[in-house]
Amino acid sequence: MPDSELAKHTESGMKTVDKLLLLPEEVDAIQSLLRDITSKYKSAEDDEFLSEACLYAHELPRRIRKAVNSFKTTEPRSSVFLISGYPVVDSNIGRTPEHWKRKAEASPAMDVEALLILLGALLGEALGWATQQGGSIIHDILPIKECENEQLGTGSLQTLWWHNEDAFHNYRADYVGMACLRNPDNVATTIASIDDVRISQADIELLFEPHFTIRPDNSHQEKNTPDISDLSADPMDPLRRSYKGIAEMNEKPAKVSILYGHPQSPYIRIDPYFMDPLDEGNPARQALERLIEEININLSDVAMQPGEFLFIDNCKAVHGRKPFKARYDGADRWLKRINVARDLRKSRSARANCNSRIIW
Ligand SMILES: [Fe+2]
Repeated sequence: MPDSELAKHTESGMKTVDKLLLLPEEVDAIQSLLRDITSKYKSAEDDEFLSEACLYAHELPRRIRKAVNSFKTTEPRSSVFLISGYPVVDSNIGRTPEHWKRKAEASPAMDVEALLILLGALLGEALGWATQQGGSIIHDILPIKECENEQLGTGSLQTLWWHNEDAFHNYRADYVGMACLRNPDNVATTIASIDDVRISQADIELLFEPHFTIRPDNSHQEKNTPDISDLSADPMDPLRRSYKGIAEMNEKPAKVSILYGHPQSPYIRIDPYFMDPLDEGNPARQALERLIEEININLSDVAMQPGEFLFIDNCKAVHGRKPFKARYDGADRWLKRINVARDLRKSRSARANCNSRIIW
């Protein structure tokens, strides 16, 4: 891609990312398109809108479509793509909610949510999990007081250990997309790409073998359901069965490889915080430790700003978050997040119908 279209964004200590700055005429065209969408639909999670998102995405300015398509097809070394320059007016989006359960009836940031869906539609299909944030497709990432010491996107005081999103699950997304509504303290998302990691051929071969277990992360735990008292006691209830499936994956995690794909340009699936250590004598244990050390060395920061959209290649990059002191004053960091699969069909056995985007 010509440098004039896609700039490499580098600052000292900051992640080098593939980046596109929206031009004023592109912002005008996007806002016109979003006005059509927000006048037709009540929510960016409307089923019809989600089905038609790929069509609306065709109406985004060509330079944007080309840049996102290039990110998808060339799989650049950075493994992240940042689009900036969309105007977010802080006074228009209301207070940062205290909890993702307390969404406003009509989202004050529906334009941003719809644009996140449209950009994601250039990469694939948005999906959600029955067991995460009440089955929402668009997640709120904001600090929640009672979660401040937890390993959750909604935590704050603990470093959120880097991971691939939903690394435990075979139907995890190919991309994680995030849109920033506010980030007053410049809290950094941490990112490292497998393409920057240097490990030996012997370690690569061990990491390609299924020695490892990854348990479900805390965001899928039953205690984080919107209202635990609403959860049916009927063991055949779909949500109850989904949580049972998560519990089974927690009790008996399958053995998987950490690396997969092409040995010379591997993809990665890892979540160290939720992995069990291997036996001392197992050489795969040291291979994993060396990989973790290398990723730590290569981890760098992206502090998203309002109006920025960040897409992380979940097959190639891990991400986490630096700790921060939340304000709980309505002005806290607030991101919107989606998961995007290149191919919805691979998860068909776990979705209710071919149009459904929720994995049960
Ligand atoms: Fe994550």
